[in-house]
Amino acid sequence: MGKYIVAGGKRLNGHVAVHGSKNAVLPIMAATVLTGAQSVIHNCPDIADTRCSIKILRHLGCDVDYDGYTLVVNSANADGIALPEEAVNKMRSSIIFAGALLGRFGVVDSAYPGGCLLGGRPIDLHLQAFCQMGVVFEDALDVIIGKADKLAGARINLAFPSVGATQNIMLAAVLACGTTTITNAAKEPEIVDLQGFLNACGADVRGAGTGIIVINGVKTLMPAEYTIMPDRIVAGTYMVAGAITGGHISLSNVRPPDVYPMAKALSNMGVDLWGEGEMLVLKSGGRLKSLPRLVTKPYPGFPTDMQAQFTALLATTSGQSAVEENLFEARHAHIAELAKMGANIELVGDSRFIINGAARLHSADVTAKDLRGGAALVLAGLNACGETTVHNACYIQRGYVDIAADLCSLGADVRLA
Ligand code: UD1
Repeated sequence: MGKYIVAGGKRLNGHVAVHGSKNAVLPIMAATVLTGAQSVIHNCPDIADTRCSIKILRHLGCDVDYDGYTLVVNSANADGIALPEEAVNKMRSSIIFAGALLGRFGVVDSAYPGGCLLGGRPIDLHLQAFCQMGVVFEDALDVIIGKADKLAGARINLAFPSVGATQNIMLAAVLACGTTTITNAAKEPEIVDLQGFLNACGADVRGAGTGIIVINGVKTLMPAEYTIMPDRIVAGTYMVAGAITGGHISLSNVRPPDVYPMAKALSNMGVDLWGEGEMLVLKSGGRLKSLPRLVTKPYPGFPTDMQAQFTALLATTSGQSAVEENLFEARHAHIAELAKMGANIELVGDSRFIINGAARLHSADVTAKDLRGGAALVLAGLNACGETTVHNACYIQRGYVDIAADLCSLGADVRLA
């Protein structure tokens, strides 16, 4: 499975460029199925989830070429409607292909994506929305088989601003007959990126980034070339790397509004940050302050995907902090691992943590249980005295092209073994 060996205690000083966004590229890869044409996508991060999506695209009959940065997908000859079960089990977000298959062929056949370590992760909002657009699902327990004679636009009010459901509806609606309006839509920057790609292909989508998205169905799409947005969670992870080591670092390919919630939290802790264009500079020193209450919320709130990394950072501050996880009911597997490194964190229920800051963490043998929790352990290792081993590197590789190389450019001593 591989492991990261982190020799802690180095004050980071250096520069790194942030790679393309995982959560933006996955729905855009699904969208390439809709076009029936060639899509050229730049800044496509070479992570495990991209490789898994390439397998899905090929399984569906698309021609795919990828050099580790630019992805070329030609979906002219695509004819598959069934998602490979192995991919659905491995990558829950492959459900995003459902909207694209329904939009292109009016049919989808997929295994049911189960829950994961973060919680149950239902897809009821996706399925309800498809039904409103005219899809009829077979009555089956663990497979999703849906068909629509003609997908029709609909007014869909989401009970919760789900990122995946918003994207799936957008994909299904692009070629549907008539207008689809999504209210209480997710506002994440990755939704705006999906709109950007779809419109580059000739779709008519407006409102992404607000709570109301309007999609006027069009008859056909065309070839397009698009560049994926930078990964705001990778940027946030490296911002924490600077802060947790008392470092002075700069990051390029960062869009300041995307990282504002993380920058604001760091600033409240006593970290200096300044930006110019797509460059962010961070300077940290001395013992950082605790945060009385850090609450995860849908965008523009503080992202759940940064909760674990900040929990590691808060474990090294001068006082008591409280973290509330509001998106996923069981996102806390990193707590027990951080405790092995000397972190003093009390779990109150499943989603509230009370963190009593310690002067410094110590090295330990720890195991990544999920992607962002794994990244948090690497960050804790940067702070710790001694050599920390983080097992299950494969989880971290789902979302970071090469976290060891990036952290080494910032002056850290991290290697993959
Ligand atoms: C996406 C991101 C993930 C991020 C999350 C929240 C991708 C590939 N993944 O996941 O990194 O942590 O947004 O920002 O972009 N829910 C339901 N029913 C549904 C759909 C969702 O109850 O039909 C619930 C989920 O269980 C969860 C909450 O809504 O508690 C948020 O989920 P959602 O916004 O859909 O997250 P994902 O799209 O799965």
